[in-house]
Formats: sequence, C-alpha cells, structure tokens
Amino acid sequence: MGHFDLSHRIVLAPLTRNRSYNNVPQPHAAVYYSQRATKGGLLITEATGISDTAQGYPDTPGIWTKEHVEAWKPIVDAVHQKGGIFFLQLWHVGRVSTYDFQPNGQSPISSTDKGITPGLGGVDWAQPRRLRTDEIPGIVNDFRLAAKNAIEAGFDGVEIHGANGYLIEQFLKDQVNDRTDKYGGSMENRARFALEVVEAIVNEIGSNRVGLRLSPYSDFMESVDSNPDALGLYMAKALSEFDLLYLHVIEPRVSGSTVKEAAEDELPHHLLPIRKAFKNALIAAGGYNRKMGNRAIADSYVDLIAYGRLFLANPDLPKRYEIDAALNKYDRSTFYTQDPVIGYTDYPFLE
Ligand SMILES: Cc1cc2nc3c(=O)[nH]c(=O)nc-3n(C[C@H](O)[C@H](O)[C@H](O)COP(=O)(O)O)c2cc1C
Repeated sequence: MGHFDLSHRIVLAPLTRNRSYNNVPQPHAAVYYSQRATKGGLLITEATGISDTAQGYPDTPGIWTKEHVEAWKPIVDAVHQKGGIFFLQLWHVGRVSTYDFQPNGQSPISSTDKGITPGLGGVDWAQPRRLRTDEIPGIVNDFRLAAKNAIEAGFDGVEIHGANGYLIEQFLKDQVNDRTDKYGGSMENRARFALEVVEAIVNEIGSNRVGLRLSPYSDFMESVDSNPDALGLYMAKALSEFDLLYLHVIEPRVSGSTVKEAAEDELPHHLLPIRKAFKNALIAAGGYNRKMGNRAIADSYVDLIAYGRLFLANPDLPKRYEIDAALNKYDRSTFYTQDPVIGYTDYPFLE
C-alpha cells in the first residue's frame, strides 16, 4: 500500500472503545493495540477527536492537545515494536452530540440546524448550530492541526472519518445538508468541505499518509443520501486526483455497527464502480468473515478487508485466519463500557 510494506490484507477497523478517560489515551490502549499488531499489518485507531467540539460519546480520545500527543506516543511505540502500521482516525461528530459534551454546554456544530430525532437510540440529542460559511476554514484547520499532531505522536498516517453520520458526512449527504452557500446543493458543493479537509491534510503531511473512510449507503444517525452510488463515485474520482493513499468504504449491508442483512457468502460486489474509479488501495468493511474476505481478495474486488467486531474479539485474528482456527465470540455488552480490561484486553489468544 503506497510505500508501506504490508504482509497481509487483514486490517483492524476503527472501533470506538470509550476507555480514554477525559479524552486522554491511556496506557491500557498500548496493550490493546499491540495485542492486535502484526508485522506488516495495518491497524486503524478508534475515532479520535480533532478539537474540543468534536465529541459526542464518553471517554473517546483526542489529538488536539500536547497532552493527547504525549499520551499517544507510547501506544504508537507499542504497535511499532511489533512491526505494525498504525493510522489514526480523525473525527468530528458534528451534530451527533449532546450539550454535556460541548464546551460551555453550547450547541454542537453541523452543516445544518436540523437535529437528530430526539430520543433516537435513547439519547437526548442537542439542537445543532449551522456553521456560518466564514467559520468553515477554522474547522478545516482543526483537522489539519490534528493530522500534524498525529504525525508528531508517531503515527504512520491518518484516516479522515467521512462516514457514519458524523460532521463530514453531514455535509456530504443531501438529506442532511440543507445549505444554500457554496457548501450545499450540488454534489460538488456538498463535497467541498470534505475535499478542503483532504487538501489541507495532504498539504500538511503528504497524500501518501492519508486515507479516508466513507459510508455512502448507510443511514446511521439519520444521515442519508438520495443517490449513494453517485456520491461514492464522485468522492472516489476526487480522491484519486489527490492521489490519496487509500479509500475505505463501508458495504451497503452495514449501518454504523449494525448489520442490516445477514452476512452472506454470496458477494454482490456493490463497490465495483468505486473500485474502478479509485486508483490506489481500496479497503472494504462491513459484515466480512474469513471466507467472504478471501473471496473479495481473490476476485480483486478490493485490496484489503477491515474487520471490526471479529478483530475486537480476536486479538490474533490474522493468525487464526491463517490456520483457519475457530474464533472467539464478541460480547456486545462490553463494546462501549469503560473498564480498562473487561471486554477490551481480556479476549483470549489461541494458546
Ligand atoms: C464497538 C464498535 C465501535 C465502532 N467505532 C467506529 C469508529 O470509531 N469509527 C468508525 O469509522 N467506525 C466504527 N465502527 C464501525 C466499524 O469500523 C465497522 O465498520 C463495523 O463494525 C462493521 O464491520 P464488522 O462487520 O467487521 O464489525 C464501530 C463498530 C463497533 C462494533
């Protein structure tokens, strides 16, 4: 993948784990990520806030202060010691937030002032505030600084979180973005914010260290587009022109962390048009198992497969896949709990 020497095609998908108390990455994250690191294996971190307005969930990590940078360093070192390649996922939740997570209890920012339906998922979502056109360069700059910080912390690169209903997707999708300025309306305008973020980060750290994640087909957090095929294709072409290191796309069968259809062995290859439009490495995620992943690679459908829940529950997933061993089952009840061990670093290895 670009100048990175990968030894296999099994990627750790970004997985929010809510164990970074007060947004500061913790020493137990070094254990967790190094458990999943292999020589020449790509790991993507959990979504990581780019600024003090970027949060919407408890104890998610940040990368906007010196303290965050210093706290990430030993975690990155632990992964590098095992030969892993480690990318940080850069995140701004936009309207997917509550007043509690915002500085001074202010309204979360978004492309729109339309909120998420109150009570969706049992959360009392805040009323968002539509960013003024003249405020957008400041948010782009927050993304740029966060990417710079990630490199300072030792990461090999960053993945821009353009998926799952968060800020970038709130601009991309026409059922959320109701702007009338140059950031709303046409596909070109809706993609402007995302591509300004890409450009700023590429200029800061180089396109060979930048990936981006998309979920055009998802309806997670009420973030929907009326023409997801066109959105995916537009972005694939634009990102190809930026010579982005990789594009990471979530399959239509998944919304957020929920699989809508049963994972089938029959692969519909929905992402083929994106595959054709994007010239560099393509990662697919969402509902994959070993057999489906092998099929997708054998068909040259994508270059890499990101595994979420299965990698969460199987720290040695690449080894288990290599020898076709049985897998641990994941425990959904501990996905988002705060314990530094339980449901986090205590999933057993094969031995
Ligand atoms: C516990 C959990 C946390 C997640 N956190 C993130 C995240 O931080 N960033 C992101 O882009 N996707 C996140 N996702 C989505 C996963 O990366 C992945 O797309 C999804 O789980 C489907 O893949 P899978 O079927 O292999 O689990 C999360 C999913 C789960 C289960």
